[in-house]
Amino acid sequence: MNNIKIITEHWGKINPLKIEDYVSVGGYEALKEFIEKSDSEGALKEVKLSRLSGRGGAGFLTGVKWEMVSAQKGEKYFVCNLDESEPGTYKDRLIAENNPHLLLEGLVLSALTIGAKKSYIYLNGNYEKAKEVLARAILQAQERKFLGTKILSSKYSLEIEIFSGAGAYICGEETALLSSIEGNRGEPKMRPPYPTECGLFGKPTVVNNAETIASIPWIIQNGGKKYLKCATKLFVLGGSVKNMGVFEAPIATTIDEAITKLGGGMQDGKEFWFAQVGGASGGIYLEKELGGPILGSGAILVVDRTADIYDLLLSWTGFFRRESCGKCVPCREGTFRLHEIAERLVDGEIADRDKEALNDILWTLENTTFCPLGKFAATAVRNAIDKLGILK
Ligand SMILES: Cc1cc2nc3c(=O)[nH]c(=O)nc-3n(C[C@H](O)[C@H](O)[C@H](O)COP(=O)(O)O)c2cc1C
Ligand code: SF4
Repeated sequence: MNNIKIITEHWGKINPLKIEDYVSVGGYEALKEFIEKSDSEGALKEVKLSRLSGRGGAGFLTGVKWEMVSAQKGEKYFVCNLDESEPGTYKDRLIAENNPHLLLEGLVLSALTIGAKKSYIYLNGNYEKAKEVLARAILQAQERKFLGTKILSSKYSLEIEIFSGAGAYICGEETALLSSIEGNRGEPKMRPPYPTECGLFGKPTVVNNAETIASIPWIIQNGGKKYLKCATKLFVLGGSVKNMGVFEAPIATTIDEAITKLGGGMQDGKEFWFAQVGGASGGIYLEKELGGPILGSGAILVVDRTADIYDLLLSWTGFFRRESCGKCVPCREGTFRLHEIAERLVDGEIADRDKEALNDILWTLENTTFCPLGKFAATAVRNAIDKLGILK
């Protein structure tokens, strides 16, 4: 496992409230280089070469998305997704709190590359500290002309606005997020058209996860080819491992390596049962399946044999029942019914007709909902039936 740190290198070593600390470790050098060369095509080329994939969960290639928007003329927007409402995930918050200028530098580089003059940071409404830190960083960057009108006396200008969400999980989904900034209900929209064609206020828009954006300064400075060889990802470890927290490691790290090398293995006296990978919407992995990659947002919950699976199911289904936006019937009703059955499981009152209904409900959530949240709600329950045999 290589030790290159692209995102977390300066965490705990520099004061996040002081721009001079970030500048003293080479901060904003990538932006200076970009401005000197005035080369957005070159920057786009490096991001494409890096094969940087989105860190928000879906893994879409960043360079491909940027190319679609940079090719279009006129007004456009760049949006940083810092909604991060997935239970067990808090890596983006730590990026903002520990090194806000890395995120800002990445955001300025990203927006200028695609030709946007206005950018939003869509911030989880509960992230009060991150909001303060980011607001201060924006002012400092403006004072030093890294942001605002005529950046570093060049032809480039960019305004960044922080938009605080109201804490809905669905507002992390990009079309719901954009609706929310427009002042509408946070509900997903039909795609196509994709935000890259018709996004915020009807203009071409790139939405990228905060971690994706924070990787950009390194790519611009070191080149896409080098990044391709040493790409990293933030992993969030929780549950029954010795070391819990956020770790930066090579993107190809397996679940097993994350648990043993980053997490230090199981806590003393605890026996591994399964890992849930990707937050509440993620799948369940048994010991024999741990050689695979870490999908989704990078969160790993390690569960030991003493855990009560019915309590976990109650909590997961309760989360999705609460967070279903209600736009489509299969999810609005399906998540509600799923939670009811989980309550009966906990109370030991599960009936045969519940078992039959469960199959129909899960199939409906997996196959007929308007957006991926329905599928997310079904994943852990389906896995608990198939892999943990909860109904036997
Ligand atoms: C229900 C749902 C919730 C999501 N929540 C988030 C989120 O909190 N943060 C995030 O970056 N992406 C989230 N996404 C993915 C976004 O829609 C989008 O793909 C992502 O922000 C694109 O950025 P990336 O390419 O850099 O990953 C969510 C998607 C769905 C379907
Ligand atoms: S699947 Fe759920 S969250 Fe998605 S649109 Fe339908 S009701 Fe809303």
